Amino acid sequence: MHGSSRPTSDAARGDAGALLRASDLVAGYGKIEVLHGVTLEVRSGEIVSIIGPNGAGKSTAFKTIIGLLHPRSGHVRFDGHEITGLRADQVLRRGLAYVPQGRIVFPQMTVRENLEMGAYIERDRGRVRAAIERVYRLFPVLGERRRQLAGTLSGGEQQMLSIGRALMTTPKLLLLDEPSLGLSPKFLGIIYEKVVELKAGGITMMIVEQNAAKALAVADRGYVLELGQNRFEGPGQALLTDPEVKRLYLGG
Ligand SMILES: Nc1ncnc2c1ncn2[C@@H]1O[C@H](COP(=O)(O)OP(=O)(O)OP(=O)(O)O)[C@@H](O)[C@H]1O
Ligand SMILES: [Mg+2]
Repeated sequence: MHGSSRPTSDAARGDAGALLRASDLVAGYGKIEVLHGVTLEVRSGEIVSIIGPNGAGKSTAFKTIIGLLHPRSGHVRFDGHEITGLRADQVLRRGLAYVPQGRIVFPQMTVRENLEMGAYIERDRGRVRAAIERVYRLFPVLGERRRQLAGTLSGGEQQMLSIGRALMTTPKLLLLDEPSLGLSPKFLGIIYEKVVELKAGGITMMIVEQNAAKALAVADRGYVLELGQNRFEGPGQALLTDPEVKRLYLGG
């Protein structure tokens, strides 16, 4: 079954050369367990997409990886080090940045101030300015609107700002949670053009998406999560054409 998708099995899991490896994550909220042993891996240079129904635990997996939620068991290794249990700011310092679901911006701050907030771990003003200029090159509309309050941006522009803010620390790995949710086809197209551009620029990404077809089309590999567990994994193209994945998650 080389090069095709397959249901996830324990035997299929190797660790060599991974930039990120989250293994057997068990996590939840209060008494409720949401992740029952999720394993995800990202190699340097890849785009990895995660799809699955609402409530599958996709956002919870991201929150656990970046340190907003502590796993009850399981491990997260990033760039050669164990990061399990570190705080989100410590994880960010190691080069793992996160764009939360729901295009969260600081509405009463300007575009530029929002970007500066993204670099809160950076002391060197010159580096912050250079990072802002890089974001403006990627998303020219943000440069044009640098003095506008973020709350008055369109939904698509707010999503660009949210991504731009996460890029302020030049991360090795960027986790994007639902970057296209609620966006028009035009903005969806722009966001995915930028994802491809970021990849070409050397940024590795893991993306959670409702728009499974779009996410798998740009993905080197993908995972399907369901009910807090791994269900399928494989190359993006293989998942896109897998009859069972198509029937269950791609609407036919
Ligand atoms: N802060 C929280 N407190 C309690 N339960 C939560 C919390 N956040 C999420 N949950 C629950 O955990 C489960 C998984 O939620 P999660 O947000 O990870 O799913 P998801 O796969 O990202 O779904 P969606 O596609 O709708 O974004 C859901 O049942 C949800 O109600
Ligand atoms: Mg979610």
